[in-house]
This record gives sequence, C-alpha cells and structure tokens, in this order.
Amino acid sequence: MPLQTDFIVIGSGIAGLRSAIELAAGGARVSVLTKSKASDSNTEWAQGGVAVVLSDDDAAELHEDDTLSAGAGLCDEEAVRVLVNEGTKYIKQLIEWGTEFDREGGKLVFTREAAHSRRRILHARGDSTGKEIVRALIARARQEKGINLSPFADTESLIVRKGRCVGVRFLDPILKAPREIYANAIVMCTGGAGQLYQHSTNPPGATGDGMAMAYFAGAEMADMEFVQFHPTALNLPNAPRFLLSEAMRGEGAVLRNAHGKRFMADYDERLELAPRDIVSRSIVAEMRKTGTRTAFLDITEKSEKFLKERFPKIFQTCKIYGLDISRDFLPVSPASHYTMGGVRTDLWGRTSIEGLYAAGEVTCTGVHGANRLASNSLLEGLVFGARAGEAVLKDVTGFELNESHLKRKEDEDGLFGPASPALDTAVFKRVKRIMWERAGISRSEEPMRRALEEFDQISSANLSLKSRNFVTLATLVINAALWRTESRGGHFRRDFPDRDDAWKFHSVQKSDAPIARSKSVTGFSE
Ligand code: SIN
Repeated sequence: MPLQTDFIVIGSGIAGLRSAIELAAGGARVSVLTKSKASDSNTEWAQGGVAVVLSDDDAAELHEDDTLSAGAGLCDEEAVRVLVNEGTKYIKQLIEWGTEFDREGGKLVFTREAAHSRRRILHARGDSTGKEIVRALIARARQEKGINLSPFADTESLIVRKGRCVGVRFLDPILKAPREIYANAIVMCTGGAGQLYQHSTNPPGATGDGMAMAYFAGAEMADMEFVQFHPTALNLPNAPRFLLSEAMRGEGAVLRNAHGKRFMADYDERLELAPRDIVSRSIVAEMRKTGTRTAFLDITEKSEKFLKERFPKIFQTCKIYGLDISRDFLPVSPASHYTMGGVRTDLWGRTSIEGLYAAGEVTCTGVHGANRLASNSLLEGLVFGARAGEAVLKDVTGFELNESHLKRKEDEDGLFGPASPALDTAVFKRVKRIMWERAGISRSEEPMRRALEEFDQISSANLSLKSRNFVTLATLVINAALWRTESRGGHFRRDFPDRDDAWKFHSVQKSDAPIARSKSVTGFSE
C-alpha cells in the first residue's frame, strides 16, 4: 500500500508553513516535506524585513505604486493589488500568532528600504526578521494535529497520472530509500534558485529543485530571465557572500568606491536607495572604473550602540571576519539574491497542472514584474501561501484519489537517477560559474550561446536527477534571457541596453513547446 495523505506541502519557509496551516485548520492531514531542518529556508535567512501597509502615513495605493515602479512595467497589476491589500490582514494575524516585530514604546517601528516611498518595513530582532517569522509559524503549525513535518526528506520529482499531479517521489530520511507519497493536491513552496550563481546571498539549499520538478512534470514557467542581484553582499576572499541588508542603506549607509569616493550620485538621483538592479550595475561600473573587484559600504556615521541594537547579526558576523561596522568600510559586491521568475500560477496558487499548486519564491505570480521591490518577498509567501491553501480546500472538495491514480505505469521514470555526489558537486560548480560569468548582472548573446553549448555537453554525461534538474533550470534562465532582446529590471543585455516596450510581455516556457509570450502571468486559468 503506498503512503497516502490528504495534502502534501513541499518546503517549510513562510509560504509552505502558512499554506500547511491553512490546509490543516480545516481538519485535513498535511505532510510537509522539507529537504533540511524545518527551520532551514530562504525565509530563515531574511534579514531586512517585511513590507506592509500599517503605519499612519501609508496607504495600499502607495505600496502598489512602489511595487509597480520597481517591477519596471511588467508586474501583473491584479496580483500586486492582492499582495498589498491582503498583506495587512495576514501580517496582523502573524502578530496575533506570536510574531514579535521590533517596537519602540509598544509601537511597531518601520524602516525604509530602496524604492519605498514610505517607511513600511517591519523587522524583528533587528536583522533576524525571517528567523522570528519562521519561529512563530512553526509554533503555530505545531498546534495543528493534522500537520506532519518531515525534515530531511529530499524530493526530486512529481508524480503525474492522467494529467493530474497526485504525488511526490522523495528520499525517506529514516529508511534512506526512495519512496512515493500520494495526495489529493500538492503545494510546491520550495523557494528560489539563487544558488544557480557562483556568488549568492542564499542558503546552500536554494537550488531551485521545485521549479525543475514542476517543469519536468509539465508545468509552465514564467519570466525565468529575471534574476535579482543584491547590491551589497560582503565580499571577502574565501568567505560566503553574507548579506549586508538593504536596511543598512535605509538607515543611512552609503556606498564608496576603492578611493573612498561616494559614487551613487553619478548614476541615479535616488542615490543608495535606487532600485536594486540600478545599484548593482552602478557598483559593477564603478569597480570597472577603479580597476577593483569591490566597493565599500560605509555606516560609520552611526554609533556602535545603535548598530549593535539595530543590526546585531550583521555586527557579530562582520566581527568574526575582523570588521567593526561602526569603524570600518565594508567590502561589498553584488550577488544573486532572488528569482522573480518561476512556476506560473494564477492569483490562487494554481499552476497549469491540475492538482499542483505553488506559492512563494518558487512561483511567478507577476507580483514582482522584472524586479522585486525590497521586502515584498516575505509578504508574497505569506499572502499567496494562505491563498493557495484556501484554493486547494475549495478545489478538491469531492475529489478522491482512486486506483488509476495510484497505479504505476510501466514506462514511468525511475525513482532516482544514479546518485553521484562527486559528479553532482562538479556539475553544480561548473554551472554556477558559467551562470555568473555569462548570464549574470550583464548579459549578451554570444557568451550565453556558448553557455548553452556547455550545458549540452554537461547533459550528455549520465547525470543524477539532482544535476539534471540544476542544468535544466540554468538552461531555462538562459533561454529566456536570449529571447528577451531588451533590458528591463533585473535583466540587462549589453547588446540591447534599452528598455523596449514592444517587449511588455512575459516569457512562458514549457517542456513540450517553444518559448512563448503572454500579456499576463496569472490570467491563464480564467
Ligand atoms: C535585505 O535585507 O536587504 C533583503 C531584503 C529583501 O531581499 O527583500
């Protein structure tokens, strides 16, 4: 008898946990499969905060305008309206569930980040906002008897039968063997693919597995060309690219070049608080001008006391590397941070495959357009995680898995490709380097074509499913980046440096069709 439950959620970041809580609140059994510890996710690493309309001088329309403007003409307006209007309700609920955002005199404090017209970013424990949210959500999830959290359960493919997604193949952490688990619906919340690049602010697990699984199951992928590079990752030899939160610039940090000159005025009138794509490219241009590989973030105007309280984690981490943020300029350079593209969903997390839903960074709802506004991602995971859960409950009423869904077909994919950790490590390293050098902050046709040729060569080896997923995802990013012969938001082409509104379309990729264009991301299910 195969393992069976009512619903499966893959991933335990903000979207996965919120969606599991929604599903279980109605009494359903929900298996949450996550490839590492339950608390290990991109959410857990989020420093800056969560954007929400809650302060007296703010309004949903202002948050909407800022999101649309950062998105560089490619946001789905309806998705943005859902985000900013429903965000307030879900954040209030998060507070009721015990999330402790920072307060002064009992009142919530809001910080500012790039491209926000108001101070609207809530934060927790200074710069550990994601960690606090995950803590509160896990505590809330534990109150739901129906939720079964399975850590270290690595999923590598989806089971689709009779056109419906009915289960997941995963590596059972206890049996150390591949298994299948079946359910009435699957909600994919596996996060993004920042690790596609050699330099990333993301945790090691952000390899985009969910995107690849959905793609191979036949789902549509939208806007894969749009990758966000965070301007200020700590740049020290042999150290991971630790994020130096944008909130530091929100609190007054400035960028300096190798000669100590503050340079952002040469690039954008919004200075250090211009949208991330602009700041990232300005840093790269300035590094080139000065013939160096780093720029510097300077927050020495602030007192040690303020910095220790406001950025405790950053303060401590920099100290480990011998840097005192109240005295030293901090070496920084851009690193991949967020994937705006992903599994195409409607406004309720439905994908193009029946039975498969998705929420959070793994998706493309069109909410971020070509460039995500800072601190909108936790809000997206929360709002669309809850909505996906709600939609699943509504859609599957009356549906039951039957024998034909559970029966394995003769020619179905094997459970796992040949596992080969050494080959996986080599493949990941090679792909990440190619992506960084040829499809990163600045792109052009010839290097991207050569990258595709190399991916073809790599794919001709007998790859494990893990490596196959990774190379495929990299190929999807480059396919879309080659296709879009203009520059917009996070996608910059040296050979087509201008924005061209003939390209006000989304890219859509599917395993059995050539790349296509679509006016809206979310409209497909109507
Ligand atoms: C940051 O703290 O700079 C990251 C916040 C975000 O990516 O929204």
